Amino acid sequence: GEPVTVDVSQMQPGQQISLTWQGKPIFVLHRTEQALAELKNKDLIARLSDPDSTALQQPGYARNGYRSIRPEFLVIVAICTHLGCIPYIKPDPGDPTIDAAWPGGYFCPCHGSKYDLAGRVFRGVPAPYNLPVPPYHFADDKTLVVG
Ligand code: FES
Repeated sequence: GEPVTVDVSQMQPGQQISLTWQGKPIFVLHRTEQALAELKNKDLIARLSDPDSTALQQPGYARNGYRSIRPEFLVIVAICTHLGCIPYIKPDPGDPTIDAAWPGGYFCPCHGSKYDLAGRVFRGVPAPYNLPVPPYHFADDKTLVVG
């Protein structure tokens, strides 16, 4: 398939763009400073099934605490690793599914799998793996190329 290009220079912190690459939904999320800090929270990391993504092969550039090339930009295949539904972000702290055990992140509506904002799955949900990171790079400061 053809690579897909996105101009990320206008993306505000907290903003997410969806695109399609090879027939798959891809999310590009501009994470906030607060979201980036949360990814380093030891209490959160202790509740992840596979914090280092060792179970599913990852591109080398995603083998870090942010699972990304540039910390602020998450790029993931938005297909739940359980049975393929599309997860979405649950940011509202008043939501009853958001509790001490899950601070919010990506939620799969089909069977309740929960991920953080690096696509890492929490223990105790059906999803077996973290959301995959697709092949991508930055052609320049503004231009993200997926594929
Ligand atoms: Fe996402 Fe089952 S498809 S939890």
